[in-house]
Amino acid sequence: MSQTLRDARKYEEITEQNIGAGEKPSFHLAARVGWMNDPNGFSYYQGKYHLFYQYHPYNSHWGPMHWGHAVSGDLLHWEYLPAALAPDMAYDEAGCFSGSAVELPDGRQLLMYTGVHKEVQEDGQVREVQAQCLAIGDGRDYGKYQGNPVLGEHDLPEGGSKYDFRDPKMWKAADGTFRCVVGNCAPGRDGQILLYSSKDGLSWKYEKILAANHGRFGKAWECPDFFGLDGKHVLLTSPMDMLPQGLEYHNGNGTLCLIGDYDEKEEVFTEEQDQAIDYGIDFYAPQTLLAPDGRRIMVGWMQNWDTCNLHSPEQPWFGQMSLPRELSVVNGRLVQKPVRELLALRREKVRHENVIFSGLKTLDGVKGRKIDMELSIRPLDEENMYRKFAVRFAQDSTYHTAISFRPLESILKIDRKFSGTRRAVIHQRRSRVGSKNGEIKLRVILDLFSVEVFVNGGEHVLSATIYTDRAADGISFLVDGVAAMDVVKYSLEI
Ligand code: FRU
Repeated sequence: MSQTLRDARKYEEITEQNIGAGEKPSFHLAARVGWMNDPNGFSYYQGKYHLFYQYHPYNSHWGPMHWGHAVSGDLLHWEYLPAALAPDMAYDEAGCFSGSAVELPDGRQLLMYTGVHKEVQEDGQVREVQAQCLAIGDGRDYGKYQGNPVLGEHDLPEGGSKYDFRDPKMWKAADGTFRCVVGNCAPGRDGQILLYSSKDGLSWKYEKILAANHGRFGKAWECPDFFGLDGKHVLLTSPMDMLPQGLEYHNGNGTLCLIGDYDEKEEVFTEEQDQAIDYGIDFYAPQTLLAPDGRRIMVGWMQNWDTCNLHSPEQPWFGQMSLPRELSVVNGRLVQKPVRELLALRREKVRHENVIFSGLKTLDGVKGRKIDMELSIRPLDEENMYRKFAVRFAQDSTYHTAISFRPLESILKIDRKFSGTRRAVIHQRRSRVGSKNGEIKLRVILDLFSVEVFVNGGEHVLSATIYTDRAADGISFLVDGVAAMDVVKYSLEI
């Protein structure tokens, strides 16, 4: 093991002692110490879920990337393992960027990640070159492969950039051979996803451009994933520098899901539909695994690149994952539900049925900052459509975060403007959701530093981080007009 990795392991073990219980999310995985971004190597290996992550242990801002590592039996109780990778070789001196994991036929775990190194150009400028590298291990300790890098600039299609060539996602094909998709750029920083194959997981071969942006969705495409689901094939990617398109895509780095058909023999993907993956403020770089019971489960980095350098680097941790979500494709759309394991954390059921109200309402027993709450809202009758419904949470006399719904436009808004933030960054997002006759179902999951809203059984999901003092645990409801509401609320205990 290199000194660089040994140092990181020692540092995280010592400094994690400075973070008190209750200072971190309770059932969302956060950085052990320091900084976390993308999920990496999300996999099921030797009886446990493994979730690695982009990691800079030494302070809570992005820096030379390591891979942090945690394991779980239920995707909610996470146990940290020592950092898995450090930037300790010439070919990854500038960072071990995102990647994935599969099991080799001999039972060892194979990681593929992007090694980044600096290259001096003819004009004296330094640029970072990206290439794909392997590490092999036992679920805790990993050794870098002697043949690294295994995919480099000679494995690119014509015009493909070696400066934007990252985030390999591998999987095992039905015949036992391996495939992977990698994010890349055509000239003009136009995103494209490349497909590679391997017989043994070690030696890789370029196949083709699986999908190309052609200027439609942002610029570079990062963190691809590709899998079959419910008779369709799904390509996930996270485009950088997006322009807004209606209420579907927003400015900045976003998420994109392309659903279509895949001819496995010819390896041709035909896109049919596109949609955002998450419609909230904080969600990026999702990655999936196939669970032993056949579920396709996705986890994303619950942050937004444009708002994540505003805190002091001295803050002991920054960055958390979304709840793992079960995916399905229904009527050509990606549907997401919190993993069913969450049901086991539910305690203290509180139920209020057919609450008919106008103006402001609070309900007995409905409060808390670690909750799973199901709301079902409807007009009293169709002639008297309410104009707006809102639920406020993480609330005290000064602060709150709100989700509001306008049935006439079918627009749902998340708004954290009053959550205590003091920076002029994005605080609101609106999404057009499916609702008929003013009826909508919301499942609102709060952890200490986040909210995730699953709309109408997961047809839309909106995620956002909030850093309001945890003592602000009030919940209230507002209706402009008159509406009827059912509420079922549980506290979540880990
Ligand atoms: C996406 C990303 C990846 C890269 C990693 C670096 O958030 O930019 O493309 O591998 O972060 O930390």
